[in-house]
This record gives sequence, C-alpha cells and structure tokens, in this order.
Amino acid sequence: MSEATDAPRVLEARGISKRFPGVLANDKVGLVVHKGEIVCLLGENGAGKSTLMNVVYGLYHPDEGELLVNGKRVVFTSSADAIRAGIGMVHQHFQLVPVLTVAENVVLGHEIRKGPFLDLARARREVAALSKEYGLAVDPDARVEELSVGAQQRVELIKALYRNADILILDEPTAVLTPAEVDHFFGVVRSLVEAGKSVVFITHKLREVLAVADTVTVLRGGKVVGTADPKTATEESLASLMVGRDVVFEVPKGPAHPGHVILSVRELHVADDRGVPTVDGVHLEVRAGEILGVAGVEGNGQRELVEAVAGMRPPVRGHIQIEGHDIGGWSPRRVTQLGVGHVPEDRAKHGLVGTFSVADNLMLNRYNRRPFSRRLVFERAFIRDNAQRGVKEFDIRTPSVDTPAGSLSGGNQQKVVVARELSGDVKLLVVAQPTRGLDVGSVEFIHTQIIQLRDGGAAVLLVSAELDEILALSDRIAVIYRGRVAAVVPRPEATREGCGLLMAGAGEQAPAAPT
Ligand SMILES: Nc1ncnc2c1ncn2[C@@H]1O[C@H](COP(=O)(O)OP(=O)(O)OP(=O)(O)O)[C@@H](O)[C@H]1O
Ligand SMILES: [Mg+2]
Repeated sequence: MSEATDAPRVLEARGISKRFPGVLANDKVGLVVHKGEIVCLLGENGAGKSTLMNVVYGLYHPDEGELLVNGKRVVFTSSADAIRAGIGMVHQHFQLVPVLTVAENVVLGHEIRKGPFLDLARARREVAALSKEYGLAVDPDARVEELSVGAQQRVELIKALYRNADILILDEPTAVLTPAEVDHFFGVVRSLVEAGKSVVFITHKLREVLAVADTVTVLRGGKVVGTADPKTATEESLASLMVGRDVVFEVPKGPAHPGHVILSVRELHVADDRGVPTVDGVHLEVRAGEILGVAGVEGNGQRELVEAVAGMRPPVRGHIQIEGHDIGGWSPRRVTQLGVGHVPEDRAKHGLVGTFSVADNLMLNRYNRRPFSRRLVFERAFIRDNAQRGVKEFDIRTPSVDTPAGSLSGGNQQKVVVARELSGDVKLLVVAQPTRGLDVGSVEFIHTQIIQLRDGGAAVLLVSAELDEILALSDRIAVIYRGRVAAVVPRPEATREGCGLLMAGAGEQAPAAPT
C-alpha cells in the first residue's frame, strides 16, 4: 500500500534509547508508522525489537527520546496510558489468565459494570461481535487453558480491539502458528488495516515480511541499520541487512550413514492432559547417525509423543526403548542420563528457569553429575567455563553468564536451552520446534549443529511445525496424522506437496478422530 505514505503519521518514535544493566537495548531508535500501514520490525535475536515496542506500549520508560501519537507528544507512565492513546499490543509471551474464560480475559481490567457486578452478558456479546467483524473465531465461554495457541492469540487480539486500539503491535505473532493459521492470520491483519488501523509486526520469517509489509525497519545491536522496501527487497537482502553477513538458508548436508537402532517406539499410546488419547499406536525407529523428522499439523500427537520419549509423560501403553533400556516409568532425569538431549516445545514451562542465571540454566538437570558437581559440591569453575563456552559457541547475547535467563530476549532464551541440550555426550536428541523464534543467522547455526551431531553418530528425532525445517534436516520423514504415523518417506522421495497431503490425512483410511 504505497499510498499509505501520504497518510497521516499515527505513531512516531524519535531518538529512543533504553538501557538495561550491561546493555544498551535501544540506541537512539526512530520509527514512523502511517495510518493503514503494516510496518515490519526486523532484527537479530536481542536487537531490541521487543524493548522498543514495550517502550511504545508504556511498559518501559525510555532513558532518552520521545513518542508522538497522531502528531502529539505523549509520555506514558504505564500501559494503561498507551491503551488510552489507542495502542494495543500482543506480546511474544501471552498474558492471559488460563483459568478464566475468553470473555472474562477480554474484559479483565476493563470491566463493563452493571451495578456492582460484571456485565458478562454484554462482554460476551461484544467479544462475539469483534470476533465476527475481523474473522477472529473464538468461543467467548471457553476457558483459555483449553484453547490452542492460535486461539489464545486471537483472544489477545480481541482484547486489544475491545480497548479500541488503532495501532496494533504484534510481537512475533506467527512464531507459534501453524501454516494454515498463518494464512488466516494475514487475512485478519489485512482486514485490520482496511478498517483504518495500523500494525507494527515483528517476525523472523522473511517470506512473511515480503508478503505483508508496507515498509521494513531493521534493527541491529539496538540501532536502526536501515529500512527496506518489500517490493524490491529479497529474503537474502533482508537477511544480510539484519545479520551483517550473507546467510545460508539451507545448510549443506551429506547422506546419512545409519547405524544401530537407538530409539525404538512400539505400539505407543499416550494421552494428553485431559486424558484424551492423542498418540494412538505409534511405531517408529531412529538409528544412530540419522535424523527422523516428524511432520504433521500441530495437535496430532507430536507433543505427547515427544514428552513420552523424554520421560515427561507416562505412556498409557506400549514400549519406548532407548539403547535397549525400556524407559517406561522413568523420570526425565533418568532418561537424560542415558545421553538424551531434549529441547522442549514450551521453553518457558519446561526448558528454562527464568530467575536462575544463564550459567545455571546451561547445566540444569545435570547439576548432580560430574563434571558439574562432585560429591554434591558444585564445581563452580567448571560451571562458569561451561557457561562461557556455551554463550560463545551459540552466540547467546547476554551481558554476562550471571544474568537471569528470564531477562534475555526471547530468541536468546531459546538458544540457552538448545545450547544445553546439544552439548555433552548426546546419543539421542529429541527436539521440538528447535528454531522457533530464532533469527535467520541462528537458524543456520542450529541446523549446522544438529547435522554435526548426526554426523557424530547421534540419533535425532526432530518435531517441527515448519515443513521447510523438516525437509531441510531429515533423512526420513514420518508424517503423523491423528496420533498415527501415516507414512514414513525417505527424504529423497519427499516433496512439499506430498507431505502436505499426508499431513491433511490423505494417506490412508485413518481411524476415527481421537477426540
Ligand atoms: N527486562 C529486561 N531486563 C534486562 N535486560 C533486558 C530486558 N529486556 C530486554 N533486555 C535486553 O535488551 C536487549 C534487547 O532485547 P529485546 O528483547 O528487545 O530483543 P529482541 O529484538 O526482541 O530479540 P528476540 O528476537 O530474541 O525476541 C537484550 O540484550 C536483552 O538481554
Ligand atoms: Mg523479542
């Protein structure tokens, strides 16, 4: 929408600086958003994108610089001020209350009162109206904890719209969505700008930038390093502007040399948190020196499969053997001790302790073992060395190894988990969405590491919602559909289209849906 540049400026940030202990997260950053425009904010992990948006949303007070909304200077002391000025934000990590319903979450802190009581009937009507207007399908009475990630995100959007946001800040909204949800989400974004709203959109997926952005601003090391016109830019040009060097999108990989079976899963049945059987008789095998990719639309049992293999979820029945050990009933720690690395899908819940230092997070789950401790005494020097090595090797952007992991940028938190789980003597690597939220340079690095582990003789079970990632890394691809492996396809025979069809259930006469 090139005519958008003639439109009025709804938001302008001028010379914004924001300092945290040991980092200048924003260094005199400028950003302009016109009415009806989609501005993409691009940059490496830790470049300062979320920080800038948190300043605009009134959560952080800038050390320097000013903000203008509709041409007028504003000073926000809290996000309530920003909301009043017409700004809404959907965070990288959602902020909903799981035990409340959709309607309750939407009105939370903004209740329509009828006498002393919450007018939930009216709230539900408004939620339904907004959901219809913008194509944001959600059930106002559903409890948030029961919703898929995609639906929770729609709730966050409705929440912002309910507060009359005209400028919507979306911090990595697509990182957690399935490909079909992403397409739908872009439809929603377009309907928002057609309704005269403006959008600031953060993503690491360059294809998305080229597909939806009107303009692109690139941050590196807290500074604006350039802007790009999506009509003339390419994924390559955006990547090198972001990272400051050329990036290889598909890491070269030689043929696999599979050895003995390391992981063997037989007739496995696993239930989800609600007791619904989601893994429904899975058989699979992963050998030393190969990567088995599990492709599938999210919610077809992948999560429960991975959790069962990692010892986090007891199977209902069936067998899981790792290096000949039947691990049924084992704790995650005991499984780890067999040489299993596990990158969980939800790093905030299972992978990281935010209040612990980066150094402690880099040894989590291994602290009671040599060389981290000896007779229950921590080997502090070793722990520090280990942390410093991890930070350097995986390019974790942190002021120091003593910094609490929770204060790192989203992508750098992910790198902490990956660095820990990929190091040491890994015989089996179980990874779910290993590069979610990572910038293109970091994706390249992590892919290289996974291939190197394979070449060193490890077995890799890779689960990813990104078909591109599955195709780039796997030696064989197991397509999972409704809790069963619909087909196992050797990589050379796999195509995007073929996998897509199997993922949609075109494989066989699948049994009835487990729900
Ligand atoms: N609350 C905080 N306390 C201390 N440091 C912080 C805090 N928030 C951000 N930082 C630091 O500021 C820098 C910028 O982080 P920010 O979260 O803005 O990056 P980002 O561009 O959003 O990265 P990502 O793509 O990984 O989400 C990082 O070095 C981070 O460690
Ligand atoms: Mg961020």
